[in-house]
Amino acid sequence: MSNKILPLDIYPRYGQRIQNATGFKRLLYKWMPIPLHTYFPLRVELRMLWVRLISRHVYRRYMHAKNLLVNIGCGSKGKQGWVNVDIFKHPGVNCIYDCRKQLPFPDESVRGIFCEHFFEHIDYTEEVPMFLSECHRVLQPNGVIRIIVPDAEKYLKGYFEGWDALKDIRPLKENHQDFYFGGRYNTKMELINVSFRQGYQHRFLYDAETLIFVLKRYGFSQVHHQGYNKSVMPELLIDQVFKASESLYVDLVFRNSNASGI
Ligand SMILES: C[S@@+](CC[C@H](N)C(=O)[O-])C[C@H]1O[C@@H](n2cnc3c(N)ncnc32)[C@H](O)[C@@H]1O
Repeated sequence: MSNKILPLDIYPRYGQRIQNATGFKRLLYKWMPIPLHTYFPLRVELRMLWVRLISRHVYRRYMHAKNLLVNIGCGSKGKQGWVNVDIFKHPGVNCIYDCRKQLPFPDESVRGIFCEHFFEHIDYTEEVPMFLSECHRVLQPNGVIRIIVPDAEKYLKGYFEGWDALKDIRPLKENHQDFYFGGRYNTKMELINVSFRQGYQHRFLYDAETLIFVLKRYGFSQVHHQGYNKSVMPELLIDQVFKASESLYVDLVFRNSNASGI
């Protein structure tokens, strides 16, 4: 019999947290009046509230700014010379801000916006219209937004084709262990659920048809379906190569300086 230790299952995530908790956390999880799967999103939402409070004057910093390049939801991938925005203070982040409903930049002050694996974190019905309206407001005429999201179509095709196809989309280690999260998938549907939900973080997953539809619906008439490292604005080519296999790429060009957006 092999005595190799298998990685932990990716599910049941909260069950394992409860089981493995010690001390105060164990008591907290046991007696908490709400389930853990509602507690963690609530904690993030409270963090967002805090971020909105501490960043309410951030717009002053950019009051006279022009020609900005902005990376929204940059995580630890901020670049020099860019405004690197996130709700968490990762290395490289120079603007802590909740971008769901507002952006802290003046009208027509931005020449390029880059969002890699951020757009799927905002709500399809409530926040997407406001976010795109803000992008309209801050972009200069001929400004470009590059949106990169996980491609639901690739994942669903992979589900029907089998594990080998899924491995080509999402990097997996031995025993179907997730390269990013470490946990192990027991079934293909567990992996599909992680791509659609990522715990509680993903709000909506897109295929090209839906992404282009929603971007056009909210006022961007020039939507270009792109690929990895291909853009109408070469300055926005800061795509991460290891995300290419699972991603969908679009560029939106903002042509009309009088358009109201929504
Ligand atoms: C999946 S990570 C992507 C990070 C990076 N762009 C990358 O591709 O490696 C999503 C990022 O968006 C940030 N984020 C989520 N909601 C946000 C919000 N409302 N405003 C700003 N950033 C947000 C998260 O903190 C996280 O760093």
